[in-house]
Amino acid sequence: MVDASRWISGNVAQAQLSAIKEMAVRSARVPGAASLTWGLPSFATPEHIRRAVSEALENDPDAGKYTLPAGLPALRELVAQRHEQATGISVDPERNILITAGNMQGMNTLFHTLLEAGDEVILTDPGFASHIQQIRLAGGVPVHWPLQENSGWRLDPQGLPPLISARTKALVLVTPSNPTGSVFPREHLLRLGEIARERGVMLILDDPYSELVYDADAPCFNLASEAALREQLAYLFTFSKIHAMSGWRLGYMIVPDWLQQQVLKVHDADLICAPRPSQIAGMAALAGSRAHVDDFRRVLAARRELICQRLDRVPHVFEYVRPQGAYYVFPKIVAEHENSMSFALELLEETRVTVTPGSAFGPSGEHHVRMAYCVDDAVINTAFDRIEARFGAVR
Ligand SMILES: Cc1ncc(COP(=O)(O)O)c(C=O)c1O
Repeated sequence: MVDASRWISGNVAQAQLSAIKEMAVRSARVPGAASLTWGLPSFATPEHIRRAVSEALENDPDAGKYTLPAGLPALRELVAQRHEQATGISVDPERNILITAGNMQGMNTLFHTLLEAGDEVILTDPGFASHIQQIRLAGGVPVHWPLQENSGWRLDPQGLPPLISARTKALVLVTPSNPTGSVFPREHLLRLGEIARERGVMLILDDPYSELVYDADAPCFNLASEAALREQLAYLFTFSKIHAMSGWRLGYMIVPDWLQQQVLKVHDADLICAPRPSQIAGMAALAGSRAHVDDFRRVLAARRELICQRLDRVPHVFEYVRPQGAYYVFPKIVAEHENSMSFALELLEETRVTVTPGSAFGPSGEHHVRMAYCVDDAVINTAFDRIEARFGAVR
């Protein structure tokens, strides 16, 4: 018998597979399960993006080769233009941009660049489950900053300063939030920016969803548009969601001059470069039509209505805060249960509905579940028909 503890690093041994993927794996074993567990949009990659790549593979002998670690110069040029359009901040494609294999790889690279063993990173609680694992795997310590469920999963800027210690390296923000779907108001984000500057904390913005907001009165504000913060802010964008490119593995990172060459060392050691066919796809996404983004937003807004209507019929099972963006809702379990994990497992085994246990997103997530409504209407309806059949419904 092999003694695994002799071989496996302590860091890895104490980490867990993300509960999102664990539930997805379990769900795949249950025939006909209606899965709301994974934030995997139902949309196909738009045609003009696929066509650009198939043409390049056909005609460009370099299309299957490595690129330089920072990514194709023409893509970095387009990223600089896009970033300036979106934020008003001009960045240098050579000194400030790194093309990544998606935000997961980008965040991991950044944590490995910034963290010494025992360094602390502040995360909203609940927050994206994989950030917790990535920080631990890089030897860091996640520090949970509770969101205010009673006021719509808002940030509490006053709660931040007491969490900052001599070991605090960074604060990670995701808006609209995964898992709650809340959009953090501009004034709160600006206040956080001030605190980060006063206290010397790096700001890391992980942005998959800022273009997926559904209410005119809750627009998404990008802190990367604050010029005063540019020396201590890293902005990470992923093509996965708004361009339906989750399998292509592509994103980009905008970082200050002092950081780019350091991040590049880790990125190169990790994977050399993002896959070149995906970088070609990214060029088509940035240079071509953006009509699909409006289409996706319209479809997702309708799915938000649907899931909220369905949740309204089971108030004895779930209480929820109406999400404003992304494509998640994070209801509290009010039906009798022990904890969110046992509830999620029972729901899958007995009802064939897959949700993600809220405990995966931090201590404040316990007694909640995350539901992703990026799936087809039929999946949402089947899931809730089964929940109603099990728990009953109010009409
Ligand atoms: C906050 C957040 N970061 C990163 C990711 C993954 O992004 P990527 O596909 O670019 O690795 C997700 C996907 O659900 C996410 O919600």
